[in-house]
Amino acid sequence: MKSVQFLGLTIFALVTIVSCLPPKPAEFIAQNEDLTDYSKWTLVDKVSGNSDSLKGAHLADNPNTTRTIYIKNNADRTDKGKFPIGTILVKRYTDKDNKILGGVAMVKRGNSFNKAYGDWEFFVLDPTASKIAVNANGEQIRGALAKCNECHAVAAEDDYVFTR
Ligand code: HEC
Repeated sequence: MKSVQFLGLTIFALVTIVSCLPPKPAEFIAQNEDLTDYSKWTLVDKVSGNSDSLKGAHLADNPNTTRTIYIKNNADRTDKGKFPIGTILVKRYTDKDNKILGGVAMVKRGNSFNKAYGDWEFFVLDPTASKIAVNANGEQIRGALAKCNECHAVAAEDDYVFTR
């Protein structure tokens, strides 16, 4: 009888602990606030110049432009080789005088948001590189953007991320 009571108590305790743990986010929908302090994140790389895979994208056709890449949250991939939901990569463009010209971002959104391309959401950033750019209708330029998808598909084996 005692062991039954003990078992009951153990199950009760386990259920209580598990239900108190924060739920794992199934989807991460980035907002401007998530990007503002990007320059304090982990610096991944600083690159300039064009390459075959860039074809002039990311201002690469301008030799005076530097592209600096930062990562927020879990710079390491999970053991399945994928970045976890909530990972944000920002790539900022600067000119030869270090003036910020703008940038792009990609966020691991999850929840089958962009299933064919690793559930990444792509963003164009404004000229400060710390806010999501808006189009003429005031809508944020974000989503499963076709151009970004197509080119980043080259890096599919690296979870669509070129820079490691
Ligand atoms: C023609 C190819 C091409 C297109 C189009 C393209 N990218 Fe990239 N992107 C690259 C390459 C190559 C890199 C590697 C870093 C570098 O050389 O600048 C990169 C790097 C990045 C990075 C840094 C993480 C990484 O993968 O290295 C982000 C963020 C990014 N791109 C976002 C975007 C977004 C958002 C769009 C669409 C608006 C886009 N890219 C369109 C080729 C492309």
